[in-house]
Amino acid sequence: MISVKNLEKHFGENHVLKNINCKVNDGETIVIIGPSGSGKSTFLRCLNLLETPSSGEIWFDDVEITHPTNNINKIRQKMNMVFQQFNLYNNLTVLKNITLAPIKLKKVEKKQAEEEAMALLEQIDLSDKASAYPSQLSGGQRQRVAIVRSLAMKPKVILFDEPTSALDPGMTAEVLKAMEKLSQLGLTMICVTHEMQFAKKVANRVIFMEDGQIVEENQPNEIFSNPQSERLKSFLSKIL
Ligand SMILES: Nc1ncnc2c1ncn2[C@@H]1O[C@H](COP(=O)(O)OP(=O)(O)OP(=O)(O)O)[C@@H](O)[C@H]1O
Ligand SMILES: [Mg+2]
Repeated sequence: MISVKNLEKHFGENHVLKNINCKVNDGETIVIIGPSGSGKSTFLRCLNLLETPSSGEIWFDDVEITHPTNNINKIRQKMNMVFQQFNLYNNLTVLKNITLAPIKLKKVEKKQAEEEAMALLEQIDLSDKASAYPSQLSGGQRQRVAIVRSLAMKPKVILFDEPTSALDPGMTAEVLKAMEKLSQLGLTMICVTHEMQFAKKVANRVIFMEDGQIVEENQPNEIFSNPQSERLKSFLSKIL
C-alpha cells in the first residue's frame, strides 16, 4: 500500500533522512523506534507531505504522492496523522471537533457525520463526553478524541507520532488499548512510540532508525530477542 524509495531529507546542512526504503502492507501495524533526533518524526511527516522530501519517491496505492501534480489534501484525508499534543479545537465540543472535517472537507451531511462520530465515541467508551469541551477531559480522553477525529475521515492509514508521550501511565494505557483495538480491526498504522510493550504485542513489524537510516527492520520478537546490529543492541540496552 505504501512504498518508499530512496527517500532523502536535508534541512540545510543537516542530512536527516538517508536513503530510506520501506514498504507497508494493508492492515499492518508498524512501530518505529530509535533515539531522539534519528529522524522518526521527519519520516512520518514526509509520508503525508507535512515535510517535502529532498529526493526519492513515496507511493501510496499506486499513486506517486511525491509527484508535484498531486492533491496533498486528498492524500492527507487518506493518510491521517495523530500528534503528541492532540491539536483539538478548544472552543469546540468533542462532537464538533470530530464532525468538522467530514462535514467541511468530505461534504458529509451533519446528521450522518454526528451519527458516525457517536458510533466511534461509543467504541472507545467516550459517548458521554460528546458535548464536553477538550478542557473538561483528561489527557488520555483528549488523545482518544483526537484518534476518533482522525478515524471519522475514514483514512486508510493513521500515522501516530508519540501519541502517549505527554500522558501519565494510566492514560497511556487507555490510549494504547484503543490503538491496539484499531490494529485488530485492520487499520493500517505507523506508530512512532517508546512503548516497547506495545511494540512487542501489537506491531507486525518494528523499524529501528538511527542517524537518519533504517538500521534494522523485523518482527518484534526478533528485534527484541535477537537484535542483529551493534547499534540496535546498544539502543535496547539503554531503554529496556
Ligand atoms: N523543521 C526542521 N528544521 C530544521 N531541522 C529539523 C526540522 N525538523 C527536524 N529537524 C532536525 O532533523 C533531525 C531529526 O529530527 P526528528 O524530529 O525527525 O527526530 P526524532 O527521531 O523524531 O526525535 P525525537 O525522538 O526527539 O522526537 C534533528 O536533527 C532535528 O534537529
Ligand atoms: Mg519525534
